[in-house]
Amino acid sequence: MSTSLVPQSPNPSEVQTTEPLLSVRNLETWYGPIAAIKGVSLDLYRGDIVTVLGANGAGKTTLLNTLAGVIDPFKGSVHFLGQPLHGLDPDEVARRGLVLVPEGRQVFPFLTVAENLRMGAFARQQAQGMESDLERVYAWFPRLLERQRQAAGLLSGGEQQMLAIGRALMASPTVLLLDEPSLGLSPLLTREIFRIIERINSETGMSILVVEQNAAIALATAHHGYIMELGRVAAAGPCAELREKDDVKEFYLGGVSHRELVDGSKQRWKRRKTWR
Ligand SMILES: Nc1ncnc2c1ncn2[C@@H]1O[C@H](COP(=O)(O)OP(=O)(O)O)[C@@H](O)[C@H]1O
Ligand SMILES: [Mg+2]
Repeated sequence: MSTSLVPQSPNPSEVQTTEPLLSVRNLETWYGPIAAIKGVSLDLYRGDIVTVLGANGAGKTTLLNTLAGVIDPFKGSVHFLGQPLHGLDPDEVARRGLVLVPEGRQVFPFLTVAENLRMGAFARQQAQGMESDLERVYAWFPRLLERQRQAAGLLSGGEQQMLAIGRALMASPTVLLLDEPSLGLSPLLTREIFRIIERINSETGMSILVVEQNAAIALATAHHGYIMELGRVAAAGPCAELREKDDVKEFYLGGVSHRELVDGSKQRWKRRKTWR
């Protein structure tokens, strides 16, 4: 497990294996009588960005909250580095290296930017490396450096999203879990956030699981994708393949070319689809 945001080179014994870092099997989570996710299986390999796409209510947040220990699954398993995680409390899951950036950011509004970032360090394995990680977060998000003494509640939505990601990075995660980072942001800010996500992944090798409704940007950024519909995985594969699937083109990319969607020159055309 990493102790700071320096590049995470896998140790030689891990290079040989093809074991996923995070392995989810037949996960089922209920709210009272309602099953929100119904038998979800997913793998995340070290160094990969995996995206989970799906419409509102598909079960994306429930999946991330179950992985992070916020909700206990009714059935199924979550293994991280070969160890079971399901049933552990969220603070223990974070200490082991899975750190969640929740939907809607949830920064501490009355604390400053710098104080919010320091709060993120509670789940670190070691205090060592904290100052250099802070510098690194400010290098990825220069706007946070400019606003370090401002109350977080006064930041724009995009800046709060950057702060929420920065705070999670201060825990020095092995896997970063991002719940709809584009929610409520302009296309321009969404692209900026995803460019930084890509940089964090390529510069540190950190593994990232990002849940999104914005299929175009997520499929352009991630290596592997899963599409959820009504609590189940409806399709999965390398993003390059998913982008070419007719269903995905028609219902997630709206028939517009992937490039036009990513550069923002065309909007997607929305239509509902139930996968069979
Ligand atoms: N706290 C809750 N209590 C009851 N039902 C919930 C709760 N949270 C989510 N749900 C239901 O679970 C399903 C999945 O929701 P969610 O995981 O939030 O989906 P998504 O993040 O993909 O929009 C939806 O049908 C939603 O209404
Ligand atoms: Mg959600």
